[in-house]
Formats: sequence, structure tokens, C-alpha cells
Amino acid sequence: MSIKILPSLLAADIGNLEAGVRQAEETGGDALHLDIMDGVFVPNVSMGPAVVAMANRCTDLFLDVHLMMIHPDQHVDPFIEAGADAILIHIESDCDVPGTLRHIREKGVRPGITLNPATPSDSIQDVAELVDEILCMTVNPGYGGQTFMSEVLPKMGEVREMATRAGRPDMDIMVDGGVDRDTIAACAEQGVNAFVAGTALYSADDMGAEVSLLRERATAAAR
Ligand code: DX5
Ligand code: ZN
Repeated sequence: MSIKILPSLLAADIGNLEAGVRQAEETGGDALHLDIMDGVFVPNVSMGPAVVAMANRCTDLFLDVHLMMIHPDQHVDPFIEAGADAILIHIESDCDVPGTLRHIREKGVRPGITLNPATPSDSIQDVAELVDEILCMTVNPGYGGQTFMSEVLPKMGEVREMATRAGRPDMDIMVDGGVDRDTIAACAEQGVNAFVAGTALYSADDMGAEVSLLRERATAAAR
């Protein structure tokens, strides 16, 4: 599995998001992670399809769109039209999760499933074969800059094993929230290969050097 570093745009300067998009590409990010929040599933409201469309105009980076929404099924199509390359929905959302994941794939977009910290790995047993990405939240979603929850580490290994048993060694196992130079290696040891990082990257003095450091530490620790 290749190691992927995904800068999270939520942590960029909201006053110049275009610069934040370009920074993600110029500093060696493998994809751009965009956090979409509806104010219901999570207490915060963040950005919509127009920001994804802006990013699509500004970069060739793969756009990884994380829908933190209670009814993601009602919002998927505008994000696909805006240029999303992957769409992640939450297993905890109130919708036909399998049907929504199938719809995302039918539209030529990579489907992903996300689990909140308290949600057990077996909750996605029935949808694992429908996705290309499994994202383990390492903070309770809604805000950047929170503290990494190490109690989620065992779950990362569980979902990596689940993907392997399902004949999917190619599955991207991802983490998101509080990922930085001190927490990334423990995740890679569990079989995580894709790392979303917002604060750790956009607040770094040298974002390019930090992307490289995260990649080095993840690669060194990878199973
Ligand atoms: C939190 C979001 C994360 C966040 C990144 O709900 O899903 O992607 O923007 O978090 P930090 O800034 O901790 O890397
Ligand atoms: Zn996210």
C-alpha cells in the first residue's frame, strides 16, 4: 500500500482558501481532504459544493470529500458535479448507506465509509465490500485542532484485517483528526496508509518539510 498524506483544507486560512488548495499541491500532498459539515450531524457548519468546485479549478490533486452530514444521500450529487474524486459518508448517518455508496460508485467516484471514535469496527462489516476507503476518525468530528484519541488505534488494525479478509489489500485505511509527527507512526503500525492532517500541516512553519516528515515517519513505521 502506498503512503498518502492528505492536507485537510479546514485548517487553511479561510480568508484565502485558493492559496490553501495550491499549498496542498505545492507541498507534496497526495490528495486534498475537504470537510463538509451540516451543523446537525456535527455542531459546526463548514463548506459546500462551491468550495469543492473552486478546488477542482485550482488543482489537479485528487479531491477527497468527507461528508459529516446526517442525510448525505440528499447532498451527494452536487459534490460529484463539483468535482469530488472520493466521497466519504459516515456509517452513523441517517440514510440508506449501502445504496448511497453504490450510487457514488455508479457515478464514477470512489466511495468511502467513516467511523466516529466510539463506533466499533464491526458496524461496517456489511458495507466494506462497497468502498475503496475506510476512514477511522481519531477525534469526534466537527473541528480541527483537537487532541488525537489513541483509544482508536486497535480499531485501525481491525479494519485493516477486515479489508484483507475481504480480499481487499488495496483498501485505503485512513485516519483523520489530531494526526501529526508524534501520532502518525502508531497509526501506520496498525496498517493505516492514508493520513489526513490539517492543523499539523497548515500551522507548520514549513508545510512542505512537514508533509515530508509525516511521510517519512509513516513509511518507517508501516507494516
Ligand atoms: C474534523 C475533520 C478533520 C480536521 C483535521 O472533523 O474531519 O479532517 O479538519 O483535523 P486536524 O486539524 O486535527 O488535523
Ligand atoms: Zn475530515
